[in-house]
Formats: sequence, structure tokens, C-alpha cells
Amino acid sequence: MANKFDLLASNWDQKSTRVEIAKTFVNTVKEKISKMKEFDLLDYGCGTGLVSFGFVDDVKNITGMDFSEGMLEVYSKKIKEYNLNNVKCEKHNINDNHLPQNSFDLIVTSMTLHHIKDTNDFISKANIALKSNGYLAISDLDKEDGTFHDRGNDGVEHFGFDKEQLTAILEQNGFEIIFYENVYMAKEHYPIFCAIARKRES
Ligand SMILES: C[S@@+](CC[C@H](N)C(=O)[O-])C[C@H]1O[C@@H](n2cnc3c(N)ncnc32)[C@H](O)[C@@H]1O
Repeated sequence: MANKFDLLASNWDQKSTRVEIAKTFVNTVKEKISKMKEFDLLDYGCGTGLVSFGFVDDVKNITGMDFSEGMLEVYSKKIKEYNLNNVKCEKHNINDNHLPQNSFDLIVTSMTLHHIKDTNDFISKANIALKSNGYLAISDLDKEDGTFHDRGNDGVEHFGFDKEQLTAILEQNGFEIIFYENVYMAKEHYPIFCAIARKRES
């Protein structure tokens, strides 16, 4: 059965706010993390690839994961259109599945965490999927009042994130915060943060 994201996929890139949030996130990550040329990158909740394709010239391999077939269809079309052989995507639902262990140098996830009910579970799975000293970069809504999604809150599990609470979850799961700031103002009222955390050596 088609989910809400399947139905939105074909017009996803037409909303300038989405494109700008993704661009700001990509630029912030590139500013804060150096030497990415050999990186295996995972874009979790990749959607149509607004974030992924911003990294094609900067990393070695990119994997996009998402549970929406509609989104993955658009993503796959772009891989073909841009003739890329270092980018792939796969269907994955984080609520039901683990991620491959010790596989990525950088996991990026933009505007997806608020759709995932169990934040701790996602961050724990991300930690296991990262190689030693790997990075997790999250872009999402700062705490909001539930009015960000103008088409209703179906599928929205969190009205943004409180910095202290998310920091605590990251630290409890073996991450050290290296950057956490609001980097963009969406629709004039909704700050979007970028958090970059590094997996501590065990
Ligand atoms: C708001 S969109 C963001 C898409 C993209 N990152 C961007 O910035 O344009 C959230 C994405 O997360 C995906 N998603 C939501 N819940 C998911 C889950 N449990 N497992 C995998 N993907 C999920 C949706 O299908 C959707 O593509």
C-alpha cells in the first residue's frame, strides 16, 4: 500500500524549503568534517536524494536507505540520469531492521528523525553501523508546537527535538557531540538544527 511519502515523491523536490534545508545541511557537514574522500556514506531516510547527491563529489560511496518505494524510484532515476556508479539505494525500515555493522564512515539523516518513533533505537543502530570514529550528522526540527507540517501530523512522531534531550541520547549511545546549532529558519518560524556527533572508540 502506498504511504504518504510514496504519494509526495514525484513533486518532492519542488518545495524550495526542502531543497534549502538539504543544501544548508550538506554545506554545514562539509564545513565541519574534513577528509571525506574515502568515506562510505549512508543517507538514512534519503527520500529523493536532496542530501545524498550533494556529496557525490566528496565521498567514495553513497548508500541511500528509505522505506518509501516512491522516494526510491525518484532516487534511482537520478542515479541513472547522472550516470553515477558510486551511488545505490535500498528499501529499509529502521523500525523493523538493523543496519549493516561497522560499514559507514558517515551517516547523514535529514528531516527523518521526527518520523521515527524510537529515537534511541535509531541512534543505537546508527552507532553499530558506523566504523570506529565515524560520524552521525542529523538535521531536523528544533522543538516545535506541532504546526510545522501544514498537511497534518500523520506519520509525525516528534514535534522536533530538544537539544539537551537529543544530546543526552547521543552521549548515552557512545557519541561525542562535535557540533550542535540551529543552522536554518524554515517557514520563518521553525529553526532547523544540525547536530554532528562522533562515535567514541570502544
Ligand atoms: C521528510 S522526508 C526527508 C527526505 C530527505 N531526507 C530530504 O531531506 O528531502 C522523511 C523521509 O524518511 C523516510 N522514512 C520515514 N520513516 C522511515 C522509516 N521508519 N524507515 C525508513 N525511512 C523512513 C520517508 O519515506 C521520507 O523519505
